[in-house]
Amino acid sequence: MNKQLILAKRPVGLPGEDTWRLESNSIEEPKDGEVLIQHHYISLDPAMRGWMMDRKSYVPPVEIGEVMRAGAIGKIIKANNHPDFNVGDCIVSWGGVQEYEITNGENCYKVDDSLAPMPKYLGALGMPGMTAYFGILEVGKIKEGDIVLISGAAGAVGSLVGQIAKLKGCTVIGIAGGKNKCDYLLNELGFDAAIDYKSEDINEALNKKCPKGIDVYFDNVGGDILNAALTKLRLNARVVICGAISQYNNEKDIKGPSNYLSLLVNRASMQGMVVLDYAQNYDKAAREMGMWMMQGKITSKEDVYEGIENFYETFLRLFSGNKMGKLILKVI
Ligand SMILES: NC(=O)c1ccc[n+]([C@@H]2O[C@H](COP(=O)([O-])OP(=O)(O)OC[C@H]3O[C@@H](n4cnc5c(N)ncnc54)[C@H](OP(=O)(O)O)[C@@H]3O)[C@@H](O)[C@H]2O)c1
Repeated sequence: MNKQLILAKRPVGLPGEDTWRLESNSIEEPKDGEVLIQHHYISLDPAMRGWMMDRKSYVPPVEIGEVMRAGAIGKIIKANNHPDFNVGDCIVSWGGVQEYEITNGENCYKVDDSLAPMPKYLGALGMPGMTAYFGILEVGKIKEGDIVLISGAAGAVGSLVGQIAKLKGCTVIGIAGGKNKCDYLLNELGFDAAIDYKSEDINEALNKKCPKGIDVYFDNVGGDILNAALTKLRLNARVVICGAISQYNNEKDIKGPSNYLSLLVNRASMQGMVVLDYAQNYDKAAREMGMWMMQGKITSKEDVYEGIENFYETFLRLFSGNKMGKLILKVI
């Protein structure tokens, strides 16, 4: 049987447990040209909150009654004349929150799990890693000497953004929730400064930790922190809009930044990004990220919880911040 997490209704605010239901359905046989993948790990991402909403986005919403969309990694256990994939191959897919998937291989790619443990392919070597890489290099356009501020800095994307910026000779300041996460930024990731937004006044802390202003702001959280960061922009600064997790569970309108005229005064730009737009270049980026990891120049943490039955309480950790690094569910 295949345990599948089905979207039962569209949530308002922070999703309740009844947003999904767990079903157990029989596993079908792969048809000609298809494979059956047994998932080992499922990626839990803030974007899942947005995919449940029936509104225009960069991908269609998950429909009520469908398996909840999610990134996954697993192994092929049956193959029926697939041109590229064979039994035993380790595959990254958008297979959803379920234990097995049948696919024709569209939007799937093969990885070598002898080179890195599977969870890394959902983190630093997967979608969050690609987001950090293209977001800071191509959208943030960092150069040596830049001062880079990052929110959500201890998370899957933010922790990598900061390390890449350090590698490129930037001064890096991270904003994260709690002393543990700030200590992690300073002591393990080599950030130059950290701000604990849960215990410090963000405006005062920015004045203290970014006295010369910032050249790049990489935003993962939006809301008040984005608004405060805008006051610190230097001439020709770049603001990368990667995400706005502080706004995802709003029951009313998203809070926009009232300080946006700082863009005008400083001839600055603010640009949104979607990692999927860079898919054709993932190979090159993943190779470079892998090399940096092997050389010990970047590191990543994966926080792995077990059991599809524990999806809900694990998912909530994205919003409480009660996790360290990339959030993953182990399902085998
Ligand atoms: N544009 C793209 O293509 C793309 C791709 C991937 C991810 N993203 C976005 O990038 C952001 C980071 O994603 P991720 O996968 O790396 O997640 P993550 O940072 O690993 O996890 C989310 C973190 O957000 C922080 N957070 C939660 N609520 C918050 C709030 N109200 N205010 C401030 N911080 C809050 C928490 O950290 P603290 O403990 O520090 O509060 C939590 O650990 C998300 O906004 C996501 O949607 C965008």
